[in-house]
Amino acid sequence: MKGIFPIDKFRELRTPFYYYDTKVLRDTLACIKSEVAKYERFDVHYAMKANVNPKVLKIISESGLGADCVSGGEIRAAIKAKIPAHKIVFAGVGKADWEIELGLECDIFCFNVESIPELQVINELAGAQGKVANVVFRINPNVGAHTHANITTGLAENKFGISMRDMEEVIDVAQEMKNVKFVGLHFHIGSQILDMGDFTALCNRVNELQDRLEARRILVEHINVGGGLGIDYNHPNRQAIPDFKEYFRVYDEHLKLRPYQTLHFELGRSIVGQCGSLISKVLYVKKGANKQFAILDAGMTDLIRPALYQAYHKIENITSDAPIQTYDVVGPICESSDVFGKAVDLNGVKRGDLIALRSAGAYGEIMASRYNCRELPLGYASEELL
Ligand code: LLP
Repeated sequence: MKGIFPIDKFRELRTPFYYYDTKVLRDTLACIKSEVAKYERFDVHYAMKANVNPKVLKIISESGLGADCVSGGEIRAAIKAKIPAHKIVFAGVGKADWEIELGLECDIFCFNVESIPELQVINELAGAQGKVANVVFRINPNVGAHTHANITTGLAENKFGISMRDMEEVIDVAQEMKNVKFVGLHFHIGSQILDMGDFTALCNRVNELQDRLEARRILVEHINVGGGLGIDYNHPNRQAIPDFKEYFRVYDEHLKLRPYQTLHFELGRSIVGQCGSLISKVLYVKKGANKQFAILDAGMTDLIRPALYQAYHKIENITSDAPIQTYDVVGPICESSDVFGKAVDLNGVKRGDLIALRSAGAYGEIMASRYNCRELPLGYASEELL
């Protein structure tokens, strides 16, 4: 065992694989629970899109969180993990008919609706099942977030949500329909947000919109502010648990929640990000013209974030104490973008060493692909390796 990893066990496993430290996950969930307990009407849903590994989901489900799903597949995974249907919200800009039907059959809590055509389809399909579907409108708040452009969602130019200008109109349309019930508003400004000022800006926008609706005597039972709280990719050990205390405090201080309202959150990365590492084996060390490469058996098919978003994941050689050298750490895929890190300082690397790519619990395993006919990586929970 070097540091936090059971190296001897790792040597018995086929690489690459995801390793989930369940103590970190449980501690994170416990922290959320104790922070949320300070506020009467806060309700946290886990954003399934971050990770649906069954071992991870089981622990999250046992902690009592609800689920934020964006597909029929995620609804099925949530139900299978025993997350109660009445705690499931279903979002997504393009829900297929079968997915809406599945949500209706399961009696999920609500549909986060993004357009009038979608509302019409939900109304029709709910009618066919003799049901009334709870609907929440996702409003595009035109609030920027200080994060990567690909994961900013709340700007007017993004495809997400209904524009603020149209908010009253869609509510009016819903109120004329028989098989949907308007119950709330939904927002989400982006992901990996570390500047709490961005969340404050969202609160201010929600307050404005609420005032506008109240002036028309439209009551909103549920406000959902999405997710987005970031994690510290630079210090996965030192700061394993994000600052939930400050995050919830910001919403408590700035969002003017009415006494009859519930405030919902959809957190993904901040729940599972730090508990996961991608463990990979060094295949070769290769000298280039002016640098050396550590070539791993993991590639962008196993963890696409560096290639797709230029994301940083801390890289560690967990089986070497040799003096530090500098490497470009790359995968075996036939793409120039298959690079995990350039000019990375690592304890001297040799064939067979194990390399950990840290903070990979969110949007890691779930975004893996089979490109180049590769096997999908497996995932292990620490407690099953004990
Ligand atoms: N709610 C909605 C409506 C969302 O679109 C998302 C994430 C979340 C909640 C959860 O956000 P979180 O708490 O995880 O930030 N694949 C990218 C991230 C995409 C996020 C998409 N939406 C990445 O690897 O960084």
